[in-house]
Order: sequence, then C-alpha cells, then structure tokens
Amino acid sequence: ADVIKVGLLGLGTVGGGVIKTIRSQQEKLSARLGKRIEIVKALVRDSEKERAVQIDQAILTTDFEDVLKSDVDIVVEVMGGVEPTYDYVRALIEKGCHVVTANKELLAKRGTELVELANQHEVHLAYEASVAGGIPILSVLRQFLRTNDISGVRGILNGTTNFILTKMEAEQLSYQEVLKEAQELGYAEADPRSDVEGFDAMYKLYILAQLVYGESLPLADVVRKGISDLSAGHIHIASELGYRIKLIAQAYQTEQGIRLSVQPTMLPVVHPLAQIQDAFNAVQLSGNIVGDLLFTGRGAGELPTASAVVEDLAYLLTQPFAPHPAWKEIAATQSGALQEDQC
Ligand code: NAP
Ligand code: HSE
Repeated sequence: ADVIKVGLLGLGTVGGGVIKTIRSQQEKLSARLGKRIEIVKALVRDSEKERAVQIDQAILTTDFEDVLKSDVDIVVEVMGGVEPTYDYVRALIEKGCHVVTANKELLAKRGTELVELANQHEVHLAYEASVAGGIPILSVLRQFLRTNDISGVRGILNGTTNFILTKMEAEQLSYQEVLKEAQELGYAEADPRSDVEGFDAMYKLYILAQLVYGESLPLADVVRKGISDLSAGHIHIASELGYRIKLIAQAYQTEQGIRLSVQPTMLPVVHPLAQIQDAFNAVQLSGNIVGDLLFTGRGAGELPTASAVVEDLAYLLTQPFAPHPAWKEIAATQSGALQEDQC
C-alpha cells in the first residue's frame, strides 16, 4: 500500500504535536519513506473535548479495542502512565505492531519486559522522546558513543522544574504561579507532582543509566528530592552568593556501586548546567576519547517532543527489524567515574 497507517494512543499535548508535525513535514516524510503517513485511529478519554488540532471525528475512539482491531502498522503511545498503558502496548506488540513511545514512567518501570516482548515478536520499540524531549540523546548513546568509556551522566532532565526555577529567579514569581504557566504551556505531566517531586527526572535518569551502565537498579534505590520545598527566599540567597539552584539528575559510580540521584543542587552561575534556562534540558557526559560533551535543547513541549517521536517513527520505518540489544550489550564501559562532588 502507498500509506503507512498510524494509530495514536493519546491526543493531548504530544499527540497534537505529532499530528501537526506529520502534516507539516508530510512531503519530506513521503519522499523518504516512499509512502504517506496517515493517522487512522486515535484513542482518547473524551471524544467530545475541544482539541488543539483539527481531526476527523471518525478517527477518535474511547475504546482501545477499536485501535487493536484497526489495520495499523505502527502505534504512537502518548497517553502516559503505566495502567492501562502497559496492557495496551503489550497487546499491540503481541499483534505485531511497531510502537513508538514518549512514556518514561512506563519504560523505567516495565521497559525491560517490553523490550523482551518486542524482540520476541520482531517489532520495533522506539523511545527517544522519553528522555530530554527533543535532544536525541538516547540514539547518540546507542549508536555513536559505543567505543568511548563513558564515565557518568549528569543533567537537567525535567523542563517543568527548570522553567519554574528560572522564572522564580528572574521574575520573583511564586512556585504555584509558575507551575500553572508550565501546565498551560504543555510542559507538565498530567499529575505535576511527577515533575516537582522529581519522579519524572528519576525515570529519565534511570533510562539513561541503563544505557550507560547496562544495569537496572531498583527504582526505589534512586535518591530523589524535588523542588516543592524551595522558596523564592532560597533562590534569592543562592543568587546573592553567585549560585543557581538546579534540579540535577546524575548517575555515578562509587566503590559500593552505581548511584543515581535527583536533587536540587547549588551550582556556581558560570557552571554550564547553571546556564540552562526555561524548559531546556541538558545532558553532560564525559568519554575517555571524545572528552566532555554537553547536549542541550528543548526538553518539553508539543513540538520538541513530537520531533523526537516523528524522527523515531520515520527512522524505524526505514530499518529492517533488529532485536533491541540487552542493556549490557549497549552499555558504555567504565573508567574514571564522575564523583558526586564534581558538580
Ligand atoms: P496529555 O496532554 O495529558 O495527553 C494525554 C492524552 O492521552 C489525552 O489525549 C488523553 O485523552 C489520553 N488518555 C490519557 N489516559 C487515557 C486513557 N486511560 N484512555 C484513553 N485515553 C487516555 O499528556 P502529554 O503531555 O501529551 O504527555 C503524553 C505522554 O508523553 C506522557 O507519557 C508524558 O510523560 C510524555 N511526554 C510529554 C512531554 C510534554 O512536554 N508534554 C514531553 C515528553 C514526553 P483526553 O484528551 O480525552 O483527555
Ligand atoms: N513533564 C516533562 C518535563 C515533559 O517537564 O520535562 C517532558 O518529558
């Protein structure tokens, strides 16, 4: 057929961005894939809701079975959460659909099972959009930093909290006022406690750490503290002293093993991560051959995230199936691990 049939699970901020991107880039995508991309079904909770994108009402459904029964080649999961999402993704993989997801919670909690299932059914499971929004950091780690020994990973992995901290400092606004703005801009999770309490950054760090270290630690072992206890006063005092407070996620090795932490951290204003403003994210890595690397870009919002989703979708459609390697196979080897106090 001359059409690639795509199903969407979710049509909120990211789903809307995916439709806009497919529409605006359709010509380029068709030239690359030799086929047009068509959205044939979209699962939502409320089919009467007003949407940011125009869509044929007949495409919308509130019943997952409609997506499962429809003749889709590939499904984009942008509804979030673990239940019922895991069951839906599982059923689609078992049916032989490729899946692209932006869902870091699902991947951190059930990613290993889904990867195994996708391998078993010889379908792609692609998840670049799950970490750091539009920054293609997972592909870089999986493909272009395999020879280097990567010594650790550190970064700003949550756009909402970086946006809040930036605005609290620059405009002396309260935490609640800025959170509301972040929600209106489509940066925040459906439950924003995931952002402000550090869960979202923890899931992303966990996915990154699996690629870097080839191991899955219990999520419960990750040290996690969010920004909800920070006041304008804390931010002001840090600023008077020449520091900025950032929600820093880092994975590093100690003699006792790998440690993962997400916590508010005071950085000198000249520190590269202190310079990351608004909803931007950053990932800092160090390779024994390449040296220091800093990746930065928009970490949240409809189009940066849709960019990662649609790039994943187009890329996998040009690739023959190859099993997703075990984390250990992808992992960068270790040398000279970053120490926690280097921040
Ligand atoms: P959102 O705006 O809240 O959209 C969620 C969509 O899923 C809505 O269309 C909702 O339907 C639908 N949905 C949710 N639960 C459902 C259920 N049980 N059954 C049927 N439909 C359901 O969320 P989002 O911001 O687009 O985020 C989606 C995913 O992308 C999440 O995993 C998030 O972590 C991830 N992500 C988001 C961003 C971002 O910047 N927003 C960036 C990277 C990754 P209704 O519209 O009818 O309510
Ligand atoms: N809520 C997330 C953030 C969306 O603010 O970073 C991007 O994953």
